[in-house]
Amino acid sequence: MHIENSLTRLLNIEFPMIMAPMFLVSNAEMMEAAMNKGIAGAFPTLNFRKEGELGALLDRLNAHKNTTPAGTYGVNLIVQKTNPLYVKHLEICVEKKVPFYITSLGSPKEVILKAKSYGAKVFCDVTNIEHAQKCQDLGADGFIAVGQGAGGHAGPYTLQVLIPSLRKHFPEKVIIAAGSIADGEGIVSVIALGASGVSVGTRFIASDEAGVGADYKKAIVDAGMEDIVMTDRISGTPSTIINTPYVQKIGLRQNWLERMLSNNSTTKKWFKMLVQIRGMKKLEASIHPGNYKTLWIAGQSSELIHDIIPCGAIIDRMKTETYEAKLKLEESFKA
Ligand SMILES: Cc1cc2nc3c(=O)[nH]c(=O)nc-3n(C[C@H](O)[C@H](O)[C@H](O)COP(=O)(O)O)c2cc1C
Repeated sequence: MHIENSLTRLLNIEFPMIMAPMFLVSNAEMMEAAMNKGIAGAFPTLNFRKEGELGALLDRLNAHKNTTPAGTYGVNLIVQKTNPLYVKHLEICVEKKVPFYITSLGSPKEVILKAKSYGAKVFCDVTNIEHAQKCQDLGADGFIAVGQGAGGHAGPYTLQVLIPSLRKHFPEKVIIAAGSIADGEGIVSVIALGASGVSVGTRFIASDEAGVGADYKKAIVDAGMEDIVMTDRISGTPSTIINTPYVQKIGLRQNWLERMLSNNSTTKKWFKMLVQIRGMKKLEASIHPGNYKTLWIAGQSSELIHDIIPCGAIIDRMKTETYEAKLKLEESFKA
């Protein structure tokens, strides 16, 4: 199925979908599968922290992109002072001319300046109008509207409110919907709300290529929406997670001391950095098979996911479902 709209034109892709960046999950194979199917793959640069790893991966993806002109790839940068690799990673990405960027959690100023210097595009994760306004003022090309129930740092508002509100405030900007979209009906629904495309994360954890253990993939298939809870214990910022026995044991909220250190102006920066590094280490340990300390990030769309298949098959299925959902919608209006 071929759709042409503001997002496909901006990224020069065939179908308006981004395979969302996922810490520890996204890898080279997933990016190549996305490009092969005419969508955009994106990955967090933090998945490639060893010396030389990120540069080598970008060379591989640039070479693959030359063979698959209908798709593209981009990187996700956590633009926060607490990310010690941010400056170095941005430098490498600019040198390798990464086609697009997704910024999360901080000010995208530096990324936008550098990306614009060679015509790359920048989308900013937003969960409210205030942050979207800042990103627009700095020259972002569009927003990833992260709504309730999304995998990772979910926003507080539903997509039914967030997307029309962004549309009203920023009629010229490209809006990409993220959160709980795992099938074609979800895609058609957010396009009806005013989005130009979707960013899909959780669905791709249950894929052959995803870089996590089989028990995490199976947990996505087994989990229903009631199994997804919010916790601030991993990064300090509320995140969705599967409510495993280990999560129940450690609780969902930071204790009073942690909250105090997070809010105190002298300790805030260092403590947040510590929490994030500790959280990353715990997440990393829990993706390995057999680890009982299971911290498995996942969104509410796990309710809609019933199989572990190759990424290419997921994308094909979602394209077909989009087409079918559109026809079904047209029929229902005729009735
Ligand atoms: C396991 C996992 C890891 C994630 N890691 C990141 C990340 O490193 N950076 C980021 O900006 N978003 C991250 N996200 C959020 C996704 O990019 C995307 O916004 C989200 O998955 C969309 O919602 P969905 O999971 O309901 O499709 C992550 C999501 C998941 C499920």
